[in-house]
Amino acid sequence: MINFQPLTDLPTMKISENPSMQHYNPVTMQELFSIQNVANQINSKAKIFLVIGVGGSFLGARAVIDALTPYFHTNNGVEILYAGNNMSGAYLKQLLSYLDTKDVYVNVISKSGSTMEPALAFRVVKKYMEQRYGKETRKRIIVTTDSEKGILKQIAIKEGYRQFTVPSDVGGRYSVFTPVGLLPIAVAGIDIEAFVRGGRQAELDFSSESNSAVDYACNRYALYKQGYSVELLASFEPRLNKLHEWWKQLFGESEGKEHKGLYPSTVNYSTDLHAIGQFIQDGSRIMFETLIHFDNIEEDIEIPFSPENIDGLNYLAGRSMNEVNATSKDGVALAHEEGGVPVIRIELPKLDAYHVGYLMMFFMKACVISANLLEVNPFDQPGVEAYKNKMLELLKEDVVKVRA
Ligand code: PA5
Repeated sequence: MINFQPLTDLPTMKISENPSMQHYNPVTMQELFSIQNVANQINSKAKIFLVIGVGGSFLGARAVIDALTPYFHTNNGVEILYAGNNMSGAYLKQLLSYLDTKDVYVNVISKSGSTMEPALAFRVVKKYMEQRYGKETRKRIIVTTDSEKGILKQIAIKEGYRQFTVPSDVGGRYSVFTPVGLLPIAVAGIDIEAFVRGGRQAELDFSSESNSAVDYACNRYALYKQGYSVELLASFEPRLNKLHEWWKQLFGESEGKEHKGLYPSTVNYSTDLHAIGQFIQDGSRIMFETLIHFDNIEEDIEIPFSPENIDGLNYLAGRSMNEVNATSKDGVALAHEEGGVPVIRIELPKLDAYHVGYLMMFFMKACVISANLLEVNPFDQPGVEAYKNKMLELLKEDVVKVRA
């Protein structure tokens, strides 16, 4: 299903000890049905669905929603907005005034239930909802959190909000196939059954000892060992930008520890060819590139013939933009390879829910294998605590100063 082109002679790696990923696509048919059911109720009323979460608690949903909804309007009249992924007062203030005349539902997502960014945003949004909707707020806020513990769980019980569970053995960045990702994706009008089916098929296809996920992991590890320190994920379809962001977090947070790991970076072509393209072609030789391409992207437009041909582009008349875009991808890969940037190609037949699910599971499996090759734990993020602790120290100092 994935046309993966291996790049180097693969190093011999013992990969049979990789932990099974079975539980990363853990949603049952019953759960899928109940998620779809809640999504349908929201779809019939809401104009805005506000997703409050940070890191793995929103990047997966946003990646899928951006990849599979139209550029300039929504699939079904429900606009998906995000909060709790930054601490900008201006963002929250403007968000609330944007919500004002539209029918709003909220999904607050936090596995721990106490992450600062979503907790602060939720405090503000909860108050706004209560002032606007009174008792009806209870029906309009849906909480996705741990099944038993955490402050958010306590709030959900106290207020009587509807709840979905983040399975305790699934970490944030591996949670797109749980209600964390699936509820917002379903509300956006995307076929979650096809998305989960794609993920399940990838789980089966990439469970053997030798497969494309293993090849990808081994290739990037071999390049890392040769001295490359940056992996650039690239694609030529702007709606994949947020999928890049999800990938960046998946690999960055899973691998970047104990002073090891490739730095995951992303580029959006052809836009970035006119920005960072010069560096990639000619700058320090520190990076290799992983190029994602979907063969069939449903909408396209033909380049018209111009009788005057002042721009000299008639040689392209009658061809489609997507064809030109695909040719530019091949040209970029050739130029980069010639310039000393190794290129790994990952190709899928169609940009749809099934294949996006398939690709995300491919990356999750490859990421776990990669982390094992590096001998780091793919499921923790001890480094994230450092900034939190410093920030809390400073905030508490400020409180003491203000009170003194
Ligand atoms: O991948 C991860 O585990 C993290 O990025 C978390 O998703 C992120 O820190 C948010 O955590 P929580 O869902 O507990 O608010």
